[in-house]
Amino acid sequence: MRRERILVWETFDVNDPLTQAAGDLYEKTLAPEERIPWIWIEKAVEGRRRRKRHFHNEWTKHLLLAALESELEYQPRLAGYAYGAYLPGFGGYLCYLGVADWARRLGVGTRLMEQFIRQMAVDAGELGEPLPFVLWESRRPELADPEPAWQLWTARMRLFHRVGGWWIEGVNLLTPNFAADDEGEEDADPVPLQVFLRPVDEPATAFDSERLRQIVARLQQTVYRRGPGDELFDQTLPPGCQPRLRPALNAIPARAVMVTQ
Ligand SMILES: CC(C)(COP(=O)(O)OP(=O)(O)OC[C@H]1O[C@@H](n2cnc3c(N)ncnc32)[C@H](O)[C@@H]1OP(=O)(O)O)[C@@H](O)C(=O)NCCC(=O)NCCS
Repeated sequence: MRRERILVWETFDVNDPLTQAAGDLYEKTLAPEERIPWIWIEKAVEGRRRRKRHFHNEWTKHLLLAALESELEYQPRLAGYAYGAYLPGFGGYLCYLGVADWARRLGVGTRLMEQFIRQMAVDAGELGEPLPFVLWESRRPELADPEPAWQLWTARMRLFHRVGGWWIEGVNLLTPNFAADDEGEEDADPVPLQVFLRPVDEPATAFDSERLRQIVARLQQTVYRRGPGDELFDQTLPPGCQPRLRPALNAIPARAVMVTQ
């Protein structure tokens, strides 16, 4: 079987129909409590268009788009997108990823993640920094959730495994509920996320428990602005919590393996 060639590029144009299609896909594939307003991502694209060089004191954000090469000239359709940033002095942070229904299982998710990791290495290189890792988060379904939710989780874990990602076992990253924030609800339950790490310039063995604690703490501080003394920070890293790297496929509990086979 001949595999379709998948092109991935960074968009600098918020008015491009494929960038707009990424906005639609973003809203369709992510629950409101897990996403920031799309307009913030458009602002990041605008910022990149105006200024291509970046500095040590700011994130460099990228919106990558994917399409099948065979369709690009005549009938371009968006196959998927990835959005994330290089965090100077820390690492790469992939915020969001989505593949259109019609384009799933063609390798689009893999291409987008691999290209994002390469982009992070370029960003780190431009600042003269090493790239120890690229990180991302994902919300695991509850055990009682229906089968499609577990099938999607399995798809994600296979994708993460395929791109060399490891699961940080032993940590529930508690993050603010964006949907409730929008409604002005202050007591909404936080959103618990699992964290994944793809080592780049350092081997997986370099990420021992203490290092992983530091990385998760820095993630809370840098991305969510939560520090020690804040409830979400303290509950994410309670005393005695011993995170460790495990293969991403180990994040699929036995129940999900049974229902998705
Ligand atoms: C998860 C998602 C990004 C996967 O994208 P994709 O383009 O279909 O993934 P790929 O084709 O690159 O496949 C990567 C791996 O996942 C596996 N996979 C993909 N879909 C699968 C499914 N429905 N069931 C089981 N495995 C699946 C592929 O077989 C491949 O694994 P393999 O190499 O072991 O065969 C896509 O399903 C999606 O966009 N879902 C909705 C949004 C989302 O969940 N985003 C991720 C948020 S963290």
